[in-house]
Amino acid sequence: MTYTANTFVAKVDRRNPDHQVLALAGEILREGGLVAFPTETVYGLGANALDADAVARIFAAKERPANDPVIVHIHALEQLEQIAIEIPVLAYQLAEKFWAGALTLVLKKSDAIPLNVTAGRNTVAVRMPAHPVALAMLAKAGVPVGAPSANRFSRPSPTTAAHVYGDLNGRVDVIIDGGNSDIGVESTILDLTTPVPTVLRPGGVSLEELRAIVPALAFRPQYLPADVESAPAPGSLIKHYSPNAELLLFRGKPDVVITAMRKTADQYITEGKTVGILAPDADVLNFEGLNIQIALLGRTVAEYAARLFAGIRALDDMPSDIILVREPDDDGLGVALRDRLLRAAEGKVVEVPEHAPETL
Ligand code: TXA
Ligand code: MG
Repeated sequence: MTYTANTFVAKVDRRNPDHQVLALAGEILREGGLVAFPTETVYGLGANALDADAVARIFAAKERPANDPVIVHIHALEQLEQIAIEIPVLAYQLAEKFWAGALTLVLKKSDAIPLNVTAGRNTVAVRMPAHPVALAMLAKAGVPVGAPSANRFSRPSPTTAAHVYGDLNGRVDVIIDGGNSDIGVESTILDLTTPVPTVLRPGGVSLEELRAIVPALAFRPQYLPADVESAPAPGSLIKHYSPNAELLLFRGKPDVVITAMRKTADQYITEGKTVGILAPDADVLNFEGLNIQIALLGRTVAEYAARLFAGIRALDDMPSDIILVREPDDDGLGVALRDRLLRAAEGKVVEVPEHAPETL
């Protein structure tokens, strides 16, 4: 199936979004069209989640494999019962604490949700985004909206309307530009249909925050080789969010890792390759004197998350042949950052021993 459209980009003020634009977006969604919209995590590519034909257009526009289910977005808790059945009390407790926000719950699906939304499963993923533009648009639409990230399949997720335009111009009816996504990594996905609540994807809500409400929490992100045909959850493919450039993820103590990164950069430069480095601001001085391109990731883990996908895209577009990055700490948002970097690196991790040998 092919899908083409004249893409209309509408810029709105997130604090005071134009209601006519949102009403138009709502109408397009109800009638089966595609609307890309900002959320606090990343931009979503939305379609009426009750309309299988509309949802099929998402898959066509993204070139997304049909076995990768999409998340259903709602603006009010009342909508949950239209989408899911046998909703456990824990779901309401989590919704109370984390919605609107970056938590997606996997629940048993209702018959109202077509099977292409859930890729044939009897479970459905639901979230209520916190971005005021998303909430207002969902309210205008009145229907639940299925929306994966608004990137082409296997490209880094979009955190600006420009990223969406670059990937999906001509494939989506409207792009609502509501500014940069504040969080910058996707929602945390928590499966409540397993005997023990299980995090399938770390994201904007940290494991520590979840454990405050769900002490017995299983954490089981999946990293599967890209050639697995029928992955249990294709978002779990190791080749995901991948840039065109090769990305190498360095693991180890910061000082030895930075030394190793300098050496690796030097080697590639000698081979005539263009090297990009993704680095927190504090690391930058360590790369002085190297002929490299740097994308800055800021001073805090929150800034790092907000800039990660944009940084990968920027280095990719320059272009870079190779992108080097040091693994961040694995607490708070760092768990999600490590997950996205590991996927962007397609699993290629350079383990740097504490006493790095002279030559690597
Ligand atoms: O922050 C986000 O979650 C963003 C914004 C747009 O809301 N959306 C997002 O969607 O990241 P997407 O399609 O890129 O990731 C959805 C992932 C799927 O790849 C799959 O791993 C998981 O959600 N998923 C969806 N439905 C599921 C289900 N029924 N069971 C298990 N996993 C599911
Ligand atoms: Mg995605």
